[in-house]
Amino acid sequence: MKTIIINVDPESPSPAAIKQAAAVIRRGGLVAFPTETVYGLGANAFDAESVRHIFAAKGRPLDNPIIVHIADMNTLLLVSDRVNNVAVDLAEAFWPGPLTLVLPRSRYIPDAVTAGRDTVAIRMPNSPVALQLIRQSGVPVAAPSANLSERPSGTTGKHVFEDLGGKIDMVLDAGLVQIGVESTVLDISTTPPTILRLGAVTLEQLQEQLGDIHVGAPGEMAKRSPGTRHRHYSPRARVVIIESPDEPNLRATVSEHTRPGRKLGLMVHSFEVAERPDLKVIKMPADLGQYAKRLFATFREMDEAGVDSILVQGVAEEGLGRAIMDRIRRAAEAK
Ligand code: TXA
Ligand code: MG
Repeated sequence: MKTIIINVDPESPSPAAIKQAAAVIRRGGLVAFPTETVYGLGANAFDAESVRHIFAAKGRPLDNPIIVHIADMNTLLLVSDRVNNVAVDLAEAFWPGPLTLVLPRSRYIPDAVTAGRDTVAIRMPNSPVALQLIRQSGVPVAAPSANLSERPSGTTGKHVFEDLGGKIDMVLDAGLVQIGVESTVLDISTTPPTILRLGAVTLEQLQEQLGDIHVGAPGEMAKRSPGTRHRHYSPRARVVIIESPDEPNLRATVSEHTRPGRKLGLMVHSFEVAERPDLKVIKMPADLGQYAKRLFATFREMDEAGVDSILVQGVAEEGLGRAIMDRIRRAAEAK
């Protein structure tokens, strides 16, 4: 299949581009599009056959349900038939934005989307391209992150094309996304609500909105949100987190992992380390927002540099730092 790439302005995409992409969605095809978090790989959420093509293109395990993206509140009522006050309040506070709500599904949503579950994950993305595409398509758009299963989520059109070129109909390329880590997945069918995946809306923000909130323990998240069970977000290189990174510890860890004939990667944000032919250093931003934006792109850059392992200096686990550390840990667990 030939994959058409259309460059679009992230803030005001050309109506012609949106029209062309929406036509692909309507006739059952797959379109990768930017959201504020990461790129999504979209299909008509009402059409099981189209949604099955998403799983095939990504190599995604069939038991991993997909988020349904909407552009207005009326569609929420079509996708879920039990929208309670908690859902409406959260939508008002965080939509359009990087919060995904898990709600009982309606009969219009096929099993292919929910992996047979009786719940559906829903969000309204905060991206003009995504919102206009959904509106113009006239249907809610089912979309997982636009990457091969297990790879870091695609945060640029180029990365999406690297993973999915030849397997999907179209990429709307708007360059690097705004946020860089995925949405927070929140199950509001429980009291208190449970975070099933840490993400771009922070725990602190949700606590302020909801008061009591439960962060799913890893085993629990895996059971209730299958995506967190699967190997995920990982570069090809092995990822190792540098514990207690003071200067001597950092040097020691680097020499410990240096092997003759191998190339090592190092991602640090508060140290200056000189590059060597056998050591690729990427200085990460100290600001958590900027760090998140670069994280997955940096994993891919390390793979391109041909490193065998990547040593990563962790970030503070507060605010967006929780989601960042969650992704780094998953990458580190992968091998
Ligand atoms: O920011 C994001 O959320 C991006 C953009 C494209 O919106 N999407 C994304 O989708 O990250 P994906 O498929 O890579 O991750 C969705 C996560 C998975 O962990 C999946 O298991 C979980 O959401 N999920 C989807 N439907 C669910 C449901 N009904 N119940 C529990 N978890 C669900
Ligand atoms: Mg994903």
